Amino acid sequence: MIKIVNICGARPNFMKIAPLMRAYKAHKNIQPILVHTGQHYDERMSDLFFRQLEIPEPDMNLEVGSGSHAKQTAEIMTRFEPICLEHKPDWVLVVGDVNSTIACGLVARKLGIRLAHVEAGLRSFDRDMPEEINRVLTDAISDLLFVSEPSGMENLRNEGVAAERCHFVGNVMIDTLKHSRDKAEASTVLADLGLQRGGYNVVTLHRPSNVDDPAVFAKLIAAFEEIERDLPIVFPIHPRTRKNLGVLGFEPRFAAMKNLKIVEPLGYLDFMKLTANAATVLTDSGGIQEETTILGVPCLTLRENTERPVTISQGTNHLVGTDTAKIIAAYRTARAAKPGTAARIPDKWDGRAAERIAQIMADCG
Ligand code: UD1
Repeated sequence: MIKIVNICGARPNFMKIAPLMRAYKAHKNIQPILVHTGQHYDERMSDLFFRQLEIPEPDMNLEVGSGSHAKQTAEIMTRFEPICLEHKPDWVLVVGDVNSTIACGLVARKLGIRLAHVEAGLRSFDRDMPEEINRVLTDAISDLLFVSEPSGMENLRNEGVAAERCHFVGNVMIDTLKHSRDKAEASTVLADLGLQRGGYNVVTLHRPSNVDDPAVFAKLIAAFEEIERDLPIVFPIHPRTRKNLGVLGFEPRFAAMKNLKIVEPLGYLDFMKLTANAATVLTDSGGIQEETTILGVPCLTLRENTERPVTISQGTNHLVGTDTAKIIAAYRTARAAKPGTAARIPDKWDGRAAERIAQIMADCG
């Protein structure tokens, strides 16, 4: 029996863990254990996703909550170590690039437990991003590296990671998107928010470099002030961003935009329905760059770099940055383009990535 402790902690982890927990069922020799670190804990950031994605109840919840990077990472490590000692897993499997990923990865490797990383090899080459540090360090100590796009294989090769440890398996995020499409289609979010198909834009923001820095945030707001005059904007707001609107004094500028509607963070199904029918999506998220590529919706990424270049070379993503004029220009170009302008589906983004991962884990023993 191969005992695998699977880690999830923050919202983007849940979409990645869901298909894996399903895929393990096909392997009688795999015994999965699910650990939630509690990095995200609000109903709308966590429990809602478990229900909608039918993720089994976690076997353990470390309930670490929020804190500085050091405090959160250290707290996860301290609480995860006894679990490893008690359960003695063969593998710890981590996903993505959040603090829970590196914290549990470090604990596992230092106890001599083998580590598998799903979504390995992605690089923004921007070491000011906390996620880039988490990615680089997790990959450096992983025994098995599961890669979602060709750039990841190339990056790992350039970093000298042994080829036999790296597996190009595709994108587990897209497994969830495909699995949930019918359920998302049934969402009533458009009617609930009074929106027409193709008649609005979606904004999401949560990167510290965008929402913690008042000068950058102000440039983004100036772009939204222009864009909302063309089409309404729906803005499901991350708790970090919500807090900063108040702290940085930007609430009056948002209140003055009559065509911009701030809504609570949405569940997965509502968010997918909203995204699939948007005219454009403006975002600093990683996962949304991938989802819009599959949905064929233009994505304007409000960052200076991306760790997911295949969404640009093959998909619908445009790296726009944070300059007001550049955002507005890119928006106008996207609006002028013919809807459904052909995007290619990246290799192995076929809904079967988790099956490939489970098979490799089962074969490794
Ligand atoms: C984390 C990840 C980021 C990921 C994002 C997705 C790290 C370093 N960052 O960023 O890579 O893209 O999740 O959402 O791991 N908060 C709540 N309720 C919650 C969770 C958070 O109110 O359920 C608030 C707290 O005030 C907290 C803040 O949001 O201090 C930030 O949460 P945190 O987990 O530290 O980072 P995120 O910005 O969510």
